[in-house]
Amino acid sequence: MYKKLIESSLKKAAKVDKVELEIPANPAYGDFSTNIGLKKGNPEEIKKNLTKDKSLSQIVSKIEIKEGFINFWLSKEALIDNLEKILKQKDNYGKDEIGKGKCVVIDYSSPNVAKRFSIGHLRSTVIGQAVYNLYTFLGFDTVGDNHLGDWGTQFGIILSAIEEKSFNPDSITLNELEELYVDYSKRAKENLALKEKAKDWFKRLEDKDKKARQIWEIVNKISLAEYQKIYDLLDIKIDYTYGESFYEDKMAKIISLAKAKKLAKKSRGALIIDLGKDLPPAMLIKSDGTTTYLTRDLAAIDFRLKKWNPSLIIYEVGSEQKLHFRQVFKAAELLGWAKKTSFVHIAHGLVLIGGKKMSTRKGTTIKLEDILEKAMDKAAELFEKAKVAKDIDSEEKKEIIKKVGIGAIKYFDLMHHPESDINFDWNSIFNLKGNSGPYLQYTYARTQSIINKSQIPNKKSLDLGAWKMQFNKEELSLLRILSQYQDVLVNAAKNYSPNILCSYLFNLAQKYNTFYSKHRILDISDKSSVMSQFRLAITVATGTVLKNGLLLLGIKAPEKM
Ligand code: ARG
Repeated sequence: MYKKLIESSLKKAAKVDKVELEIPANPAYGDFSTNIGLKKGNPEEIKKNLTKDKSLSQIVSKIEIKEGFINFWLSKEALIDNLEKILKQKDNYGKDEIGKGKCVVIDYSSPNVAKRFSIGHLRSTVIGQAVYNLYTFLGFDTVGDNHLGDWGTQFGIILSAIEEKSFNPDSITLNELEELYVDYSKRAKENLALKEKAKDWFKRLEDKDKKARQIWEIVNKISLAEYQKIYDLLDIKIDYTYGESFYEDKMAKIISLAKAKKLAKKSRGALIIDLGKDLPPAMLIKSDGTTTYLTRDLAAIDFRLKKWNPSLIIYEVGSEQKLHFRQVFKAAELLGWAKKTSFVHIAHGLVLIGGKKMSTRKGTTIKLEDILEKAMDKAAELFEKAKVAKDIDSEEKKEIIKKVGIGAIKYFDLMHHPESDINFDWNSIFNLKGNSGPYLQYTYARTQSIINKSQIPNKKSLDLGAWKMQFNKEELSLLRILSQYQDVLVNAAKNYSPNILCSYLFNLAQKYNTFYSKHRILDISDKSSVMSQFRLAITVATGTVLKNGLLLLGIKAPEKM
């Protein structure tokens, strides 16, 4: 919030319409820094104008020019004001209105029916949910949509395989369905007749054949029930699940629109939209008359624009679909939909094991269920090793283990930039000394245990007024980082990078732990001394930011650990 204030002074002082302050990685360069002086002539003159600005002098104690950069230091008063603000606003600290009146649709999770929930879909779910939470906190109207893969030619395979084996669809499991699918597709590669049969089944489905519909419905039900178990465990709630099948009767309209705009053309029996020389054409209807994944994505855009009028649609989908989304976005632009709406693809990377891609053929895949189960075991192990508070009953213990296990997996995913591949490594996932979910949760629990011990009757009204404004190094660095929270949230949202929030929280936790190891927080002789109150206030504020930052990442912080 101080960032915005300084930016507006800076705009006037440098006579520019836009300026973006940075938070220097090295605190020796101040709390904020800008290179505007390098770009717009004279930094000395900008500094001179800045020192005349009264509103600035209350929050900034020092302005310095170094290597052409202008660096700003927040005043102690500003840092204390901010500390008080955290205590007052509590869970609302960091909230913003930048999204007011703007809608963002986030398309995430989106597993494919009749197949198990994959690790890739886990990434989409976890990252998508964190992005959703961030945008919501910043005041956007957010809509989450699970674009379930419940339509398309792959359904032909499922239906044909079920019929071939005369399986009773009512008693089939998701694992069996996936096996059927894998086995059939393998054989269909060499067997044209099987391929044709599958196509025929999908055609029957699209033609509303009764039997095809019946099996399709059962398969959907079984799959959704399995996914729901995973969502429950992961604590995920997605606003809507308009699967691909929802667009079945909405595609004809898209095709007429493409024709009316003279974009659609016939090509070797198919109907396509030319997307220019940089992209392969978008296939609207295949030569066998069936529709495509892409056509459904276009229908989904049309639907979303009408229903929610979003200024932004974000797709959290694996990087193997980069080309697909470039085609979708280009087609949307040609259809005239990109005037008031932007489109973004967060293309998450792969999950590697031992540095290598997982492969079903080589037997080096891991199942999601196994990962989650192992995560719980690891969390339980950690719990047994840690010095456990005696007053934890077994129900509570179970809850804590779940929060730590699931939190560890989510955090490990989120701490990486979404687009990078992540190497699955249990030791880092549960590293209590390093950048991990459990480390942050542990630090939060530490703040809570100190607060409980403090016995200061009314912690809400800690008296900071009496504080003498002399901070030691550790206090100062905590106050500085606490003041950056909102800027970090905005930055993470703007860049679709929850990892920015992760680094921040890790940094905060490390700073707090250093502070804790170097200084006594509660005065033994007088727990309500001014010093204790001040340090306790820092502890309360750190706990608040840690807990809420983790919550935005979709991670719960237990009070005890
Ligand atoms: N079901 C698709 C898959 O697993 C992902 C769908 C992503 N969303 C979209 N609008 N295409 O590959």
